[in-house]
Amino acid sequence: MALVPTMGFFHEGHLSLMRVAGSKADRVVVSLFVNPAQFGPNEDLNHYPRNFEQDAKLAEDNGVSCLFCPDAKDIYPPRFQTWIRVEGLSQGLCGASRPEHFRGVATIVAKLLIIVQPDLAIFGQKDFQQLQVIRRMVRDLNIPVNIIAHPIVREPDGLAMSSRNTYLNAQERESALSLVQALRLAEKMVAHGSRSGPEVIQTVRKHIQSFGNTKIDYVFLCDPESLKPCREIVGETLLALAVWVGKTRLIDNTLLKQ
Ligand code: PAF
Repeated sequence: MALVPTMGFFHEGHLSLMRVAGSKADRVVVSLFVNPAQFGPNEDLNHYPRNFEQDAKLAEDNGVSCLFCPDAKDIYPPRFQTWIRVEGLSQGLCGASRPEHFRGVATIVAKLLIIVQPDLAIFGQKDFQQLQVIRRMVRDLNIPVNIIAHPIVREPDGLAMSSRNTYLNAQERESALSLVQALRLAEKMVAHGSRSGPEVIQTVRKHIQSFGNTKIDYVFLCDPESLKPCREIVGETLLALAVWVGKTRLIDNTLLKQ
């Protein structure tokens, strides 16, 4: 049995996770839970998009056998006090500006794996740090599940699919393209022989800053396993971005290959 953990408001990215899960397992369970523990105090928990009716229909149309939608009071009952913290991997990148985020993610994913007991669980690669945090947790805690990564699913113009894209107005939607365009520029630089991390980062930052309404949270080059920073692009290097477009924080990444 396969588990696809989600926070709902399904887009094609979620649906492709469901279909891949269906091709690998006899039954697919999708969890739909907007996990309060992974949102900071000033984040978008209360505004996070929700559409249960539509999600239920899409899940059914995509071969899902069970949609598991627990209540927050059952997941975090009174006196709840057990948290999972994946230490090093949770600290940089998104962890730097969202200090308790990965504690919330690791804890909910561990709980879902224990409750559902799937053979495999599928996660999108857009949240690359999340994927590595979950992989580490599963190894460190000997959780018997196979973690599968699914490539980023993009809109026809390249924007990485995200439930948060619905927050963008027309102008911001244009500026949101700066992320994927900057990643493509970096890929080209590396394909043409550039190996210098600072040079690639500078080009990426400049491109993003040339769009209105953008504010960079981070542009980071690192080893894809350890997430330790790299100054040189050797072998496979992760280029990860987080950018505020208006009031919406978007992330995207690519694996640069020498
Ligand atoms: O990627 C997400 O949607 C969430 O972080 C997850 C993995 C469902 C945990 O709440």
